Amino acid sequence: MRASEAKSADFVGKRVTVRGWVHRLRKQKENAFVLLRDDRGAVIQCVVAAEAAAPLTIESSVEVTGTVSQDPRAPEGGFELKAGELKIYNVAAEYPIGEYQSDELLLDKRHLALRTRRMIAIAKVRASVLQYGRQWFVENGWMEVTAPTIVKGAVEGGSTLFKLRYFDQDAYLSQSAQLYLEAMIFSLGPVWSLTPSFRAEKSRTVRHLAEFSHLEAEAPWVTLEDILKAEEQLVSYVIQNTIKTRAEELALIKRDVTDLKKVEPPFDRIPYSRAIETLRSRGLQVTQDDGEKREIQFGDDLSIDTERELTKDADRPVFVVGYPLAVKPFYVKEDPAAPGIGLTADMLAPRGFGEVTSGGLREDSIDSITERMKKEGLNPGAYGWYLDLRRYGSVPHGGFGLGIERLVRWITNAEDIKDTVLFPRTMSRVEP
Ligand code: 4AD
Ligand code: MG
Repeated sequence: MRASEAKSADFVGKRVTVRGWVHRLRKQKENAFVLLRDDRGAVIQCVVAAEAAAPLTIESSVEVTGTVSQDPRAPEGGFELKAGELKIYNVAAEYPIGEYQSDELLLDKRHLALRTRRMIAIAKVRASVLQYGRQWFVENGWMEVTAPTIVKGAVEGGSTLFKLRYFDQDAYLSQSAQLYLEAMIFSLGPVWSLTPSFRAEKSRTVRHLAEFSHLEAEAPWVTLEDILKAEEQLVSYVIQNTIKTRAEELALIKRDVTDLKKVEPPFDRIPYSRAIETLRSRGLQVTQDDGEKREIQFGDDLSIDTERELTKDADRPVFVVGYPLAVKPFYVKEDPAAPGIGLTADMLAPRGFGEVTSGGLREDSIDSITERMKKEGLNPGAYGWYLDLRRYGSVPHGGFGLGIERLVRWITNAEDIKDTVLFPRTMSRVEP
């Protein structure tokens, strides 16, 4: 059985067998104290004869059979396995990860670092985020689909495309499933997908990965407000269920969830123009391409710093609504009531975590979208099939994309987004 099961009053006085790995080890004259970690990261102290335990090293794999006893001095819950018989599966070579390690070494040895309790806790939180994300869509009548990840066209700008040789032509790794989801709404209605997205991000930041898990949704005949409602419900549902299910793991990584408990709809909606005014009133500076600093102004995109400034005192996410078209991709629908402004919104997580979703309505007129492509320097000819969607029964529609790692980072309070994914891919890392 697992250590987590054995640590129960029901088994006190009974003999049980637990399998796992030597998490910590203290050898004494007669006995050895093995802190055994099971395959889900729970630990139990096992007392075995020193002689039998002599070959043991950290991370050796073992099976211990012993009597469950309750001892308040036993670590991690006051249960231990006594007078254990020990079966050794593998005596581990000298383990390269000790108690205090540099972040770089932990990344180089990520395949082993996954066994640390912090990584296990975050991985479990992530599993719950994925589970409840899926569950929300299923319960609310959205249909799951999958889109290809090898594609011909850019969605989110050409500068972050990974190019690859696809037989005898060029292709790219997908930045977003959006264009494909847009094709699916005509026959499947509201759809969602969870697929890897790829961005050749050339900057090193604590919130960008080269490969991330992208939860995306698209629906026909919706308004911007419908999309924002879906987003705030989804995020609230995921958070409330995750903090309930993963209370133990969040406590282990010392995440106080008081603020997360307040994440319930509705989230504030702040017009982009007001966000800029707020930032200007606080004298916020932005760095231009030439390195010079100047005051932020209408028309600037929001950066990690400006997003932090906007959300640092909030407990709940906010939507920044109505960005200028110039800072958003070609597909964003223009607000008929406000020329130059997109019917679009980003959800910014509180306390400086920043953007977790981008969404909005899509331009549904063939003439307008072709114009916008040209303005962005894209060749409409390369988007033939996508433009067909505007030729054959175009409808008002919209959707959004949520970065799973961004959400997990906020929930776990992880400093670096790399901690929220088991095998991170960044500009400087494609191994292990
Ligand atoms: O804002 P983005 O680029 O929007 C899109 O891709 C839309 N086509 C989505 C849609 O409407 N279907 O990406 C959406 C989200 C971001 O808000 C962020 O949470 C996450 O994906 N994201 C990243 N996460 C980690 N590393 C990166 N490099 C990311 N780029 C975007
Ligand atoms: Mg975005």
